[in-house]
Amino acid sequence: MAKKTPAGWTRKHLLGLEDLSAGEIRHLLDAAEKFLPYATGTRPARALAGKPPVPPGPLANRTVLNLFCEDSTRTRTSFTLAAERLGARVIQFQAGTSSLKKNETLLDTARNIEAMGLDAIVIRHPDRGAPQAVAEAVNCSVLNAGDDAHEHPTQALLDFLAMRHKLGRLDGLTVAIVGDIRHSRVARSNLHGLSKLGSRVIFVGPPPFLEGLGDIAAPVETSTDLEAVLPECDAVMMLRVQFERHERNVPNGAGPPAQHPAEGGVAFDLEDYKRGYQLTAKRLARAKPGAIVLHPGPINRGLEITDEVADGPQSVILHQVTCGVAVRMAALSLCVGALERERKSAKPSPLTPPLSRSTQRLSTGHKGRGRQKRGLSREGRGRGKSSAGA
Ligand code: NCD
Repeated sequence: MAKKTPAGWTRKHLLGLEDLSAGEIRHLLDAAEKFLPYATGTRPARALAGKPPVPPGPLANRTVLNLFCEDSTRTRTSFTLAAERLGARVIQFQAGTSSLKKNETLLDTARNIEAMGLDAIVIRHPDRGAPQAVAEAVNCSVLNAGDDAHEHPTQALLDFLAMRHKLGRLDGLTVAIVGDIRHSRVARSNLHGLSKLGSRVIFVGPPPFLEGLGDIAAPVETSTDLEAVLPECDAVMMLRVQFERHERNVPNGAGPPAQHPAEGGVAFDLEDYKRGYQLTAKRLARAKPGAIVLHPGPINRGLEITDEVADGPQSVILHQVTCGVAVRMAALSLCVGALERERKSAKPSPLTPPLSRSTQRLSTGHKGRGRQKRGLSREGRGRGKSSAGA
């Protein structure tokens, strides 16, 4: 049961950081900090609930659906472990073998699976806004695990937790986010969160990767000169070149296709890119003493980052991954806690006979019905294509 929700969190969904206040972001991070000892699985999270005999975990008897319509390694595994370590049952939706292939819309898919009894949907989707649309169509909690180049809130939160551990604070920092900003939901969620927390974000990359940022309402600082920016940096976050999200052209002839299987791409030369933006040990030495290196993964070793830096003493890349489980434990327990309170306060209709709690849940609200027509069909435009993710 999601009983131990800290006071002060009222949202049943986590869709992005743009809408959260600094206080809400800190609340999530503080909750994640408490989950950290349980995040590695070495201490069972069900012990969180107290004394022996060990009671069920905070999400015992809860069901979480992982609705991933893009490839994923870290994020799917991390959400799965987070939910399981809280005691929940996790359903893994396989887009490639589902009725999305038979033209069922995403919203119908979500509502049908919810009708079997769900408490949370974790969704990754190639269409911007898909998590919001699903949240409006269902009654359970919805957590965004990445939508197009829009938001990836739990990734940014885990970045913040790792930064807070290694740098001791989240205000007054200068953080360079380097690479394919244009196609990065990670960059956008980091910008929203870090600027609210009082830090400065500089987006760094070649001009084609700094285009298309008009969707960001917050002020955006950009630079094409990594070496000039580095001396100001407390943290450097490297991004993968996200070939699968590029829409036009192909990489400029160069580049090993087997390693970077682009179906299309922004025109640029991989060797030029490495010369200007690869994080090497020599370049990193220009950053502030004690500066840390982050990467959301998956890493393209030898492209945006050298092995020496990725595996070096300033890299916190694997610590980010560990923080991810704690952040997702916090996000799931807070959101499902808010859902639980909403369910408890919902008044049964006077015309309906008393129902069991689970049946009541199934009978209330069909808010998103009208939205079905406007789309989010199937698994989105990425279907049938190679789509990488983390
Ligand atoms: C990122 C993503 O999928 O947006 N990775 C992640 O979730 N850890 C970044 C990427 O795919 O390069």
